[in-house]
Amino acid sequence: MAAIEYKLVSIQTGSFPPGDVARVADIINGSFPPSDVKAVVNDGEFQLHLNQLDVVRFKAALLDGTNGSEGFAKAVFDVVDSIGSYGLKGSKRMFVGYNAERKVRSRKEKEKSRSKHYYANDNDFSRKNNPLPEDSVNKIVCADSLDYLKTLPDNCIDIIITSPPYNFGLDYENHNDTSHWDQYYDMLFKIFKECIRVLKYGGRFVVNVQPLYSDYIPTHHIISSFFIQQKMIWKGEIIWEKNNYNCKYCSWGSWKSPASPYLKYTWEFVEVFCKGNLKKPGSKENIDINEEEFKQWVVAKWSIAPERNMKEYGHPAMFPEQLVERVLKLFSYKNDVVLDPFNGAGTTTVVAKRLHRRYLGIDISREYCDTALKRLEAETEQLRLF
Ligand SMILES: C[S@@+](CC[C@H](N)C(=O)[O-])C[C@H]1O[C@@H](n2cnc3c(N)ncnc32)[C@H](O)[C@@H]1O
Repeated sequence: MAAIEYKLVSIQTGSFPPGDVARVADIINGSFPPSDVKAVVNDGEFQLHLNQLDVVRFKAALLDGTNGSEGFAKAVFDVVDSIGSYGLKGSKRMFVGYNAERKVRSRKEKEKSRSKHYYANDNDFSRKNNPLPEDSVNKIVCADSLDYLKTLPDNCIDIIITSPPYNFGLDYENHNDTSHWDQYYDMLFKIFKECIRVLKYGGRFVVNVQPLYSDYIPTHHIISSFFIQQKMIWKGEIIWEKNNYNCKYCSWGSWKSPASPYLKYTWEFVEVFCKGNLKKPGSKENIDINEEEFKQWVVAKWSIAPERNMKEYGHPAMFPEQLVERVLKLFSYKNDVVLDPFNGAGTTTVVAKRLHRRYLGIDISREYCDTALKRLEAETEQLRLF
């Protein structure tokens, strides 16, 4: 049998009472198999031999076992939790061997000869960013986005987050959601082109898309290809796991047959693009994501329940506030300007306000804009109470 490899972490026991140090070693060695982790106390040094670990269990074992005392147990947990390089296997972090099969020799040279995000080369995006005109700051605008966006200068928006109408045939108040696909993409891409124009150099464009599975239309791929043709850099894709089957087809026509089984999905996609540069400059004091959020949200599968208040807000296709909160904290800074060109009942704008961003929300429906305004008022009231 191959010998188990460990990552060695050593912690100076310093002023901690020797009894506490020994107790922590006992808890670790008594609660976890030595193939995962071993604790050794040696001459004022506490050594952890780490292979893999369920860090949530580790925390519970340490803090429960020491009655939650803020002493040595916490120091050990903090050191383990702060190790930034690890792989994931189920609920465990793997501290060794997690990237063995992915090791690429001479990575840098190979990247150079492949040319990173080659499709975005030779773009002619201007690097000169402009302020959003004051009369558009913190506004809900009832208009066709194509018309309104044309009135804005180039490069004045930090981040766009939106979910466009998907052409599913939903009953929107003021928008026909069943166009021929050619017409639909024509409308959508005209608006997206304007969005790209108004986005700052280094700005982010985040689009939540659900393909129309029943018609076998891969909307997320079609939209992503469009962005790539426009020389936007694909930063990544987040799977928004809703944990619900919203599929009305039972596939009885091909039940237990390979004839044409119908695949069911419980998730939607969130595509993230950058204009000109993957890095977005901003000042440190305007970062509002904390360590725990960052660690969890860079794992690009987000489990978030669908919006539950669609009836209350009178809108058939809202995304949940939590989705917007994660996107804004992960990809933008406080005081940034956030645009949603399909703002609906105003989820983007209400979360942007709560997170101290500036916002501009556009929707073609007066009714949805009124709802968005009411939510902003309620948010102001809420902020006043705290
Ligand atoms: C999927 S919904 C967005 C819902 C929103 N994310 C929310 O949480 O409330 C798409 C919205 O696009 C709006 N819309 C459709 N065509 C538009 C256009 N040309 N300009 C502006 N808004 C439009 C619809 O009225 C609808 O509210």
